[in-house]
Amino acid sequence: MSETTPKSAVFWDKLARRYAARPISNVEAYEQTLDRVRHYLSTDASVLELGCGTGSTALLLANHVGQYRASDISGEMIAIANEKLAQSDQANLEFVKADLYAESLDEQAPYDALLAFNVIHLFEDTPDALKRINGLIKPDGLLISKTVCLSGLYGLLRIPIFFMQLFGKAPPVRFISAKRLARMMREAGFEIVEEGNFAKVKMAHFVVARKVR
Ligand SMILES: C[S@@+](CC[C@H](N)C(=O)[O-])C[C@H]1O[C@@H](n2cnc3c(N)ncnc32)[C@H](O)[C@@H]1O
Repeated sequence: MSETTPKSAVFWDKLARRYAARPISNVEAYEQTLDRVRHYLSTDASVLELGCGTGSTALLLANHVGQYRASDISGEMIAIANEKLAQSDQANLEFVKADLYAESLDEQAPYDALLAFNVIHLFEDTPDALKRINGLIKPDGLLISKTVCLSGLYGLLRIPIFFMQLFGKAPPVRFISAKRLARMMREAGFEIVEEGNFAKVKMAHFVVARKVR
């Protein structure tokens, strides 16, 4: 492993094979999310997904868009995603190992839509990450996201998560409420188009935001 591999990539690299083997925790919420995401996509759209993990969602959505780039900071996650891609006949999808700030993500920017599922709470500096995301999207383009919002009662998870982090069992996370997330998106140059939760899963907050011209 190179010396420059970020700590969070090391964490996700180690977890990747087990993550790939895990069943989807709430199939109903996942299907509802996919339906809602598809509603905003079009067959000529260029899409960038951040934190794509093992690529399952990308493989389900790529048929609905023109070009789909899916990125992740973890080389192991991307390796698994590429194994799945090799088993499919999806020609408009590519997986790239890249952090949010990697220059390689700028090569095909700006995108019509940027997808970020279960990753925004992992970025070190949320306001700065949202500004970076805004810069990757076309004016009027969309940020379609689902974010783990650990506030209210879920805020009590700070303590167990702190101990899990001490033992390398949890990644660094930001504790953001859904309300604050929406505010930060507006401050980064988006307007909120839709937000909510699916199948009563309150922790995972779905937000569609449009880049303001
Ligand atoms: C909780 S997993 C979510 C994976 C997938 N999106 C899903 O919903 O199942 C978070 C993913 O974000 C990636 N990730 C974490 N920090 C990242 C960063 N700074 N840039 C890009 N990807 C990152 C991790 O490697 C991991 O694959």
